Amino acid sequence: MSVTVRVPAKVNVQLAVGAARPDGFHDLANVFLAVGLYDEITVTPTDELRVTCDGPDADQVPLDRTNLAARAAVALAERYGRSPDVHLHIAKDIPVAGGMAGGSADGAGALVACDALWGTGASREELLEICAELGSDVPFSLVGGAALGIGRGERLTPLEVGGTFHWVFAMAGRGLSTPAVFREFDRLGEGTDIPEPVASGELLAALAKGDPDALAAAVSNDLQPAALSLFPELAGTLAAGRAAGALTALVSGSGPTTAFLVRDPESAAAVAQALLASGTCRTVRTASGPAPGATVAAAG
Ligand code: C5P
Repeated sequence: MSVTVRVPAKVNVQLAVGAARPDGFHDLANVFLAVGLYDEITVTPTDELRVTCDGPDADQVPLDRTNLAARAAVALAERYGRSPDVHLHIAKDIPVAGGMAGGSADGAGALVACDALWGTGASREELLEICAELGSDVPFSLVGGAALGIGRGERLTPLEVGGTFHWVFAMAGRGLSTPAVFREFDRLGEGTDIPEPVASGELLAALAKGDPDALAAAVSNDLQPAALSLFPELAGTLAAGRAAGALTALVSGSGPTTAFLVRDPESAAAVAQALLASGTCRTVRTASGPAPGATVAAAG
């Protein structure tokens, strides 16, 4: 018996960041869009918790109990008074430390897979609560689609999306640590008045309409200056994508993956090719969104 769950990556079409809170986290208005790049997590009963991983970035994935997939299995097992004796295998296609919620996807995927394997009967609310304990972006990996996240980003409201948005993603030669990017955000903002984060009405309307030009005009990422400050070469990648005809270019979440919104799959292919030829990134991927959240792909 094993269960396989497929979980999408995300891009933040808006990431509004408030001042640091007393607990060190930041209040956010985080508009997530799930895109069709997926990790697959397969869970199989065994005598001891074990994590394995394959895929292009597999060597950068921790295989101990710090892995969010392992932490998810342990959290669910604890809640239901059983031992987390499973083998978790991650088929990793989402870039690691890229700002696309790859680790969060593995946490949500392991949770849904263990839940199905063990037949806990946990409600969706319970699963979302465990997700929020695992990390700010994990609840969104469970639900997918598009959503506004407030608080740390974990309190979600699903959003209407009136069409398919096409994207190109450029992966950088190294990762960026999310806490380090938030610290740089704090450093750059020292002595300034940081406004309360709020979702943009124009952006939500553009999503609801499925209008890529309107979305391109409305995207924003308050972490982008911090990511660029720690990784200045990303400015060259953003410029190369814009020059190649992307409707807009932005850093995805805390980066360093950069995201390029394009009009259709043909322009996605052209922008992807131009980005690769520019020599400003390690690799490129195309994907569209919204994509469904964590879904059982196989069981038996
Ligand atoms: O919640 P998660 O563990 O994914 O967050 C990783 C790190 O990102 C936190 O330790 C914190 O430094 C930063 N963070 C933040 N404010 C948020 C979400 C994350 O400062 N709302």
